[in-house]
Amino acid sequence: MMIRSGDHSGAARTGEKSMSNQSEKRAVLQAKGLCKGYGSGSGRVEALRDVDLCVYEGELLVILGSSGCGKSTLLNLIGGVDSPDSGILLVDGKNICNLSERELTDYRRNKIGFVFQFFHLLPELTAEELG
Ligand SMILES: Nc1ncnc2c1ncn2[C@@H]1O[C@H](COP(=O)(O)OP(=O)(O)OP(=O)(O)O)[C@@H](O)[C@H]1O
Ligand SMILES: [Mg+2]
Repeated sequence: MMIRSGDHSGAARTGEKSMSNQSEKRAVLQAKGLCKGYGSGSGRVEALRDVDLCVYEGELLVILGSSGCGKSTLLNLIGGVDSPDSGILLVDGKNICNLSERELTDYRRNKIGFVFQFFHLLPELTAEELG
């Protein structure tokens, strides 16, 4: 997956000021040179190769791409549920790639909301019964 700031081929930006001067807005999420692969040898898959991304405060961002292009991989890194092979990921200016497990738990609890692609719901139980 390749996303670059200002490159709208992979990311659709919306919001009333989205096309105005981005430098006036605060960047809440910045990815620089993110790389993430799975497996090794001939079975190695490079899911993310040198991804740069900047998301500004108040911005709604849609990441579009064909199946297997790396969307979930990117979201897993942003969500703190997986870590990149290289690159940095700044959230509110702090590199979340360097966080301890405890700090990551706090990050996931307080900073990030995640709706998973597969909910793994238990159809035989109601939400109340699960609680
Ligand atoms: N845990 C894993 N082990 C090995 N390969 C993986 C793993 N997770 C993802 N991949 C591979 O990495 C690539 C990117 O996968 P990813 O799930 O990020 O794509 P996606 O854009 O979210 O796809 P979809 O639209 O189907 O959800 C794919 O080639 C996938 O097969
Ligand atoms: Mg996915």
